[in-house]
Order: sequence, then structure tokens, then C-alpha cells
Amino acid sequence: MPLIKGPHLSLDYSYQHITISELTKTSQLPDSFAQLKQKLVKGEFRNPTENRPVSHCLARSIHSVVDKKKSTRFCDIVRKLRSGRWLGSTGQPITDVVNLGVGGSDLGPLMGAAALNEFADDATLHNLNVHFVSSMDGGQLHKLLPTLDAETTLFIIASKSFGTIDTLANVATVREWVKPVLNDDGWLAHHVIGVSSNAQRMVDYGIPAAHQLTFGEGVGGRYSLWSAIGLSIALATGLHVFEQMLAGARAMDEHFVEAPIEQNIPVLMALYGAYNREQRGINNLAILPYDGRLQMLPSYLQQLDMESNGKQCRYDGEAIDYATGPIIWGGHGPNGQHAFFQHLHQGYDDFAADFIIVLSRHAPGFSSNVADALAAQQRLSVANALAHRRLMWFGSSDGTPRNEYPGKHPSNALVMEELTPESFGALIAAYEHKVFTQGVIWQINSFDQPGVEKGKKIATEIYDAIENGSELSNIDESTAYWINKLR
Ligand code: F6P
Repeated sequence: MPLIKGPHLSLDYSYQHITISELTKTSQLPDSFAQLKQKLVKGEFRNPTENRPVSHCLARSIHSVVDKKKSTRFCDIVRKLRSGRWLGSTGQPITDVVNLGVGGSDLGPLMGAAALNEFADDATLHNLNVHFVSSMDGGQLHKLLPTLDAETTLFIIASKSFGTIDTLANVATVREWVKPVLNDDGWLAHHVIGVSSNAQRMVDYGIPAAHQLTFGEGVGGRYSLWSAIGLSIALATGLHVFEQMLAGARAMDEHFVEAPIEQNIPVLMALYGAYNREQRGINNLAILPYDGRLQMLPSYLQQLDMESNGKQCRYDGEAIDYATGPIIWGGHGPNGQHAFFQHLHQGYDDFAADFIIVLSRHAPGFSSNVADALAAQQRLSVANALAHRRLMWFGSSDGTPRNEYPGKHPSNALVMEELTPESFGALIAAYEHKVFTQGVIWQINSFDQPGVEKGKKIATEIYDAIENGSELSNIDESTAYWINKLR
């Protein structure tokens, strides 16, 4: 059976259009691929447009040899906050931590904290709630702030650049909110931690050196949950769990480098994905986790994959005339079945899918009857995943249009015996390496995001036109109308 058992994770690729030997014949992996993989895990692969190394694999150890001093600070902060020894400026222990960040400074920590919450090391936990605020529109703060007490709340300003307007806008609102209760110096000294690659900007903002966590420029935002950006995962779960997550990712790094192509999970995910995109013209991939703890995975992978490989320019600046990264979308499988699956089974469009399956789940802390019922629910969910991927592949027909299910939609099943910190780390690292491999195949620089930067620039100009009345040249009628209305 077409099944690969990797570290903490298996790949069942039974429902793909071609066999592995056919696939490897069409493979466009360069001869240098083995060296490129080595370079990636050693932090020696280069991001040509930003002219720096790609170093997220080196960040996968909290005892990283790269920077021992900084990792000690990370661990100290986690221990102090989780044990209730971190006091606010009025002497009360911190009970709530809010991660203010967006994109990679939000999605990885948010997903990791949700996925691993139940493994939290409660023995070291005093009373700490971890919250996430990302969007620039203020809607999340609107809801969250009334539930918090400024005297017992600490804010993590998580921003690789420490210059992203979304995060800075949230920080500015928070600063207004604390003002009636805490003075500025007290707030900065006791209620703020900065996590960034840009230490100078944290200094300029007034964050004390001891409360600054830095990480390497070479760790891309969407690859940063392993670094100090993962602080809120460690706060939610404890250092031990965080370290287990990193260990799972490292095990996948090793597998990626060592395993031959036919047994290499990320490489096969990449090759089948490239084949489906190029030869079958499938422009989208549905990510369908059948375990609620992984429900943030589709959003996370949207950034990881689409920001990395949604490009029409080769790494050397030449235009591309072939299809590159697909649209990534999806949702929590069991709920999706009652929503968008109808279109998947009988709609007009083609798609590929990844089913993420967790075979079993323990429920410590529940009576044995409830634990049995919960375990049965997990099996029910697995049965549904198996059923839907089968129908998507084999289809079904009784000769009537109403009961025509075309099938032939390829899918992978990524299967974990259990969701653990290790299997979670391995899963995310597998997707990172898949994206890297596809970047190599399509000759893309997967580590820059010029389209996003361009959008930010235009937004800054429009905001300036609204707030300060600056003139915009070449403005279209619709945009001009709305700018004038807001003025
Ligand atoms: O959306 C673009 C982006 O640059 C992402 O790549 C990044 O994760 C996000 O903004 C946030 O950036 P920062 O961590 O610098 O605030």
C-alpha cells in the first residue's frame, strides 16, 4: 500500500493519479537538491532578494547553540510568568498575556497554543490566560479589553520588523487603555515584552533590555513559531511541551534530509502537489484537519504556502510562464462536511485535498465513561474522513444526474497516531519542507513577499491621504470617492 511512515507522521498517498515511479520520472528536482536540503537545515540556504541566510531550522532548539544567552532569557521569562512570579507595576501577579502580532507573528503562536493547550504543564502554571490580537481593525481589542485588568495584564509586542502598522495600531490603542490605570514608565517596565529581529526599534520604543527577545533576521515571519515568536506557545503550554514541539520538527528535518525520495514525506507531498498543479491544472488545495485542535491549520498554511510560492518571478528575476503555488484553503473537516463539501463532491471545480487525521485521543481527567465516549467520537471523525476522501476519489453513480459523484479528486492523508507536541512539530515542519521543495522545483525564492510589501505601500499612501489630506496622483474614481467621504 502507498504509505510512508515518517517521524510521528505517516503519509497515505493512495489516492493520487500516478504511482511513485511515474511521479519520480516526471520530477523536476535538480541534481543539487540533496545539497540544497542540507543547506536549508544548516541555515546556509540563501534568500537572494533579501540577501540573507534562511535560518528557521536553526531556531528549532531553545538551547540553540546559535544563541545560548538569548534562549536563557526566553526560558526565564516563561518560568517567571507561568509561576506567577512576574508582578505588574502595582505588585499584582500577571494573570493575562496578550500576544499583539500579525501574520507569522500571530498565526503560528495562535495555532500552536490552541493545538497543544491540553498538554500544558499545569504543575508549573500559576494562573495565566494567553490571548491573541492581530487585526488592525480593532475588533478583537474591542471584545477583549473589557475582560482584562490593566494591572494584571502583560502584552507581548510580537513583530519581526517592529514596524508593522497592524500591530503598532493595536499597541497604540492598548496604550490608551492602560493610561488611566498605570503610568507609562510602569507599564513599559512591567507589562510589556518585545519580540523582534530589530532590537534597536524595541530600545527606541522603551522596552527594557531584559524584556526584549530577539531572533535572527534569517527567520522568515511565516517560519518563526520555532523562535522567540513562539513565546506565547511556551507560555500556554510550558517549556517542556515547547521543547517537544521543536524536537518533533527536528525529527522531520532529519527525515527530509536523509530519506530517499520514494520514502520522503515532504518531498512526495511537493512532487504530487507540483504534478497536480502542472499536469492536471488543479489550482487549489483544500486543507481538511479532522481534529478541532488543528482547526487553525488552513489559515496557517495559507500564509506559509501562498506567501512563499504565490509568485510569477523566478529567484533570478526572470518572468515565469508556468503555474506556481496553488490557492490554499480549507477548514475543520467535520464542520466542512456540513458546509462546503457538497461543492467538493458534486460541484464543477477540480481540487486536491490534504486530510489531516489523528487516529486516537486520550481524555485524562474525565470519568472512564466520558473518556470512552470521547475516544469513540475521535474514531467517528476518522471514519468520516475516510468516507469523504473515498467518495472524492472513487466517486459514485447510479446513472442519474442527481446521484452522480464524479470523483477523481486526488488527496493525501497525513496521519498521526495521536496529536502530541512532537507530531504537531513534525507536521508543520513537513509542510515547510514541502513548500521549500516546490520553491526549488518552480525556481522561486520562497522567502520574500514583494506583493505584500507593495500592498502595504499603497495602503500607507491612502491612509495618509485620508488622515492628513495628502494628494494622490493617478487615483481612480472609486478610491477617490471613498477617500473624500472619509475625510
Ligand atoms: O504580511 C506580510 C508580513 O510581512 C508577513 O510576512 C509577516 O509575518 C507579517 O507581515 C508580520 O510582520 P512582522 O512580524 O514584522 O510584524
